[in-house]
Amino acid sequence: MKELDLEGRVVLVTGAAQGIGRTLSAAFTDAGAAVAVADINLEKAQKAAEELVSAGGRAHAIKVDVGDASSVDAMVAEIEHVLGHVDILINNAAIFSTLKMQPFEDIPLDVWERVQRVNVTGPFLCARAVMPAMRRRGFGRIVNISSGAVTLGRPNYLHYTTSKAALIGMTRSMAREVGAHGITVNAVLPGSVETEIDRETVTSASGQRIVEMQCIPRRQVPDDLVGVMLFLASRRSDFITGQSITVDGGATHP
Ligand SMILES: NC(=O)c1ccc[n+]([C@@H]2O[C@H](COP(=O)([O-])OP(=O)(O)OC[C@H]3O[C@@H](n4cnc5c(N)ncnc54)[C@H](O)[C@@H]3O)[C@@H](O)[C@H]2O)c1
Repeated sequence: MKELDLEGRVVLVTGAAQGIGRTLSAAFTDAGAAVAVADINLEKAQKAAEELVSAGGRAHAIKVDVGDASSVDAMVAEIEHVLGHVDILINNAAIFSTLKMQPFEDIPLDVWERVQRVNVTGPFLCARAVMPAMRRRGFGRIVNISSGAVTLGRPNYLHYTTSKAALIGMTRSMAREVGAHGITVNAVLPGSVETEIDRETVTSASGQRIVEMQCIPRRQVPDDLVGVMLFLASRRSDFITGQSITVDGGATHP
């Protein structure tokens, strides 16, 4: 797909050691980009990056806690040194598969605060760190991974849905601040995506209920997100910004 060619681009994918981030990293290297595989779990990030390199891609594993400003700044400095300036930021890292669903009154304050720190402050810190080089060079792409749980208003998930709803506001406001510099900011809202990681929040019965809500009756997989992500990362989406795009097999119509 030549039009979505990302040859020469540098992509930073946070939370890239597993699940959706890992699949997206492979799609970006396949499209010719160099990928910074950033994650709090360095060992898994290294394994993921090694696989990309053995498949002929350009990738560099890096440890980061996206909720920590100095860790994020150090990550971006290392990427600039090893791969070059970040052209495309995919804010994918989140506290997600390890999260416990519970009535909102029972969510411990420290858990609430850590979820907001990683899922909301993280994307803000990463965008802030890559912005000077994007502005200087007059090009940039930021894609924030939000969630269809916001549209559904999924119960017992208040910490998570609140954090993912914040990304929609962040996307809209940031898009207005940076559009004049050739930088677009969009959000993608995946439905319920089955990855290699088991999670308590989706049982086989609830997975089946989700499939029944969709127009396309099968479980969503990470690969279903690749088309929209390559498009939003490419020049073909130059005039699309501040948008929230749902990819959920038609489960919701926001
Ligand atoms: N899988 C789904 O059904 C689904 C649906 C909607 C949205 N999403 C969103 O898509 C993204 C990826 O989902 P996934 O299923 O691959 O999740 P996952 O939990 O399997 O992976 C998240 C990754 O982020 C990393 N991470 C966690 N905290 C971090 C931190 N502080 N700094 C850096 N890295 C950190 C983890 O180590 C992990 O590798 C998340 O933002 C999630 O909220 C997922």
